[in-house]
Amino acid sequence: MINLEAVQTKLHTKVIGRKFHVFRRIHSTNDLASRLAAEGVVDGTVVLAEEQTAGRGRWGRKWESCFGKGLWFSVVLRPGLPSTQAGLFNFLAGISVADAFWNEVQLAPDLKWPNDLLIGEKKICGILSEAQSDENKIKFLVLGIGINVNQSSEDFPIALRERAISIYMLLKRTVNRIDLLAEILQQLESNYYRIQKQGFEGLLAEWRSKCPHLGRPVKIITNLIPIEGVFESIANDGSAMIRLQNGLLKRILVGDMSPIYC
Ligand code: BTN
Repeated sequence: MINLEAVQTKLHTKVIGRKFHVFRRIHSTNDLASRLAAEGVVDGTVVLAEEQTAGRGRWGRKWESCFGKGLWFSVVLRPGLPSTQAGLFNFLAGISVADAFWNEVQLAPDLKWPNDLLIGEKKICGILSEAQSDENKIKFLVLGIGINVNQSSEDFPIALRERAISIYMLLKRTVNRIDLLAEILQQLESNYYRIQKQGFEGLLAEWRSKCPHLGRPVKIITNLIPIEGVFESIANDGSAMIRLQNGLLKRILVGDMSPIYC
């Protein structure tokens, strides 16, 4: 069981996690973190639950969050940046989790635009970033992170078993969730400082190097209309730039991408 004391002894961050709420069971850490953010909690506040009864993914999908086996948490950020940069925090979270995976369990997940971590074709982490903006500035942002850590295949609903994987299933051993969490929060904090000092350029370059789909044919579903083309690059606002068959370059800000294998 993850408890506040255990987390705090391992955590050496200054901003991320300076306020930390741990719950046994709540509906969704993103919902609670958004509510707390609207009420004014400090930058870096973390909400974590051992179990979510209404964990949410993108596009209103359900996120399976069984008790005690994953890491289900949300981080409130107040970066004070223009709202046009809100979409880039998916990338900040993705890189932070990927680097923490490497440091803690020597796994190197692939990054899938805009917000998934995959091992092979299977999802090991999902990110749900939700921003509230005031005029042209981000008022606050909630970074929701869900990681499959110690589930065995049977812990996933049958329909998900083809598409989801956990660290336990890969390493065949139980992983200390608090160590992994502390390293993720440490990476989030370093990257948070980094983008505030240097902008997102370096981070995006790193993200590109971990994405195997760049330069390859992909399909993107946006508002139910599928688009096919070559995933040429990531624009400065995080949009995917897709080269269509007719030669035009299309910018896509939100969508669900999958590779097309020839
Ligand atoms: C996705 O892949 O569609 C995003 C999944 C995000 C899941 C996490 S778990 C913690 C946080 N609380 C939620 O309700 N969702 C995010």
